[in-house]
Amino acid sequence: MNRTQQAIQDFENTESEKMQTLDAFLRIPSVSADREMKPHMLEAAEYLKSIFAKLSMDTVEIFPTNLHPIVFAEKRSSLPDAKTLLIYGHYDVQPPDPLELWTTPAFEPAIRGEYLYARGSSDMKGQIMATVFALESVLKTGELPVNVKFLLEGEEEVGSPSFDNFVEQHADMLKCDMILNPDAGMINKDTPTIVTGLRGMVYFEVRIDGPKMDLHSGLFGGNVANPANVLAKIIAQLHNSDGSVAIPGFYDRVRVLTDEDKRKIALNPTTEDDLLNVTGAPAVYGEQGFTMLERQGARPTLDVNGLYSGFIGEGAKTIIPAYAKAKISCRLVPDQKHAEIYELAEKYIRSLVPPTVTVSFIKHSGGPSYLAEDAPGLDHFIKAFEDTWQKKVVFKREGGSVPVATVMQELLGVKSILSGLGMPDDAIHSPNEHLHLPTWHKGIQAYIRFLTSFGS
Ligand code: BES
Ligand code: MN
Repeated sequence: MNRTQQAIQDFENTESEKMQTLDAFLRIPSVSADREMKPHMLEAAEYLKSIFAKLSMDTVEIFPTNLHPIVFAEKRSSLPDAKTLLIYGHYDVQPPDPLELWTTPAFEPAIRGEYLYARGSSDMKGQIMATVFALESVLKTGELPVNVKFLLEGEEEVGSPSFDNFVEQHADMLKCDMILNPDAGMINKDTPTIVTGLRGMVYFEVRIDGPKMDLHSGLFGGNVANPANVLAKIIAQLHNSDGSVAIPGFYDRVRVLTDEDKRKIALNPTTEDDLLNVTGAPAVYGEQGFTMLERQGARPTLDVNGLYSGFIGEGAKTIIPAYAKAKISCRLVPDQKHAEIYELAEKYIRSLVPPTVTVSFIKHSGGPSYLAEDAPGLDHFIKAFEDTWQKKVVFKREGGSVPVATVMQELLGVKSILSGLGMPDDAIHSPNEHLHLPTWHKGIQAYIRFLTSFGS
């Protein structure tokens, strides 16, 4: 058995113990958006620290931030000219709501068939642990041929508000030659995937206020503007009939797709039927003039994420609501600027508000898009994944957002290898999030191959 096979064998021998480690990690409700879960954020950071301590890393440290702590760990190679790989991850998860739709509770991991169900199993505690376990087995079976640093934040799902500052302040500590970010995913379980593009985003809330309290809709209806009606009309004016976004200036900086861009995007074998199967939507929808894959990875969007007004309990209650709120996000593409898009959106929405109500805004987060076909170490990574899956990798422009990739490119000068073991149907951010365990196992083998590949 060669070195790589020994490490793979070691993982297999110790798998049940490692599953318990992952299980305990998934039980910690590290929901970054929820103030009440703040103690669990520290608990998750401490848990990671304890795992790294067992791996006898050279450095393990928890750094407090204004919101949730960042975990840093480092293991140095004893080879003199070893390169340094930084592995990025986030230990925070999305809120588990709506709770009643989970078959088993979100923070009580359960295995059914080939899947492990839990919030964060796919996005991305399972992904973090895959890299940690790969390192563990490599360490146990010989020389580590590459320096490995882990940078694990707890704010990704709320837009990483502390991240830029942290990276800037600790640029020396984070110095590296390569970055692996497994926070993206695969197009399907048979196809190792490299993500070459991600959309940026801006997220904000609009609130329309009318009367000082909910009013009887018979006594006052017809003489007082209804904030729910007003907000609905505003939202209806955010898109044109061809599906494009109606905010003036929204498309001004959008990079036009060349024939070459379109050809590359079309190499992704995902079909409209795949989309319908994953989503359960009755039909494909989208901006006219573009394919489903172009819309997913290379065209900007605007979506209402949540809408609230008035009486939403059981039965009927006759009121004019005092206010109405919408949570809105835009996914952005090169070369749109999130701060500018926010300004344009606010200005346009203000222009749609009648004098019969008032409007206010809360800006939540903004992050840049990412586009890069290469990254240092990508050749090693592709070989490790192709050897494991026995299949050529596919390159994909992804619709999700991982703004930290651009931040690290700017502040550390290193482009990221964006990949991951998640599937489009893992239900990330949804009830019953799950991880496909056979893919996860294969992924650990691939990460072992990747780490050992720096040896020769
Ligand atoms: N892991 C996702 C993003 C993702 C998923 C990329 C699948 C590629 C494939 C990440 O955790 C995420 O959800 N990010 C947020 C970012 C936002 C809060 C700034 C997103 O995309 O909504
Ligand atoms: Mn994620």
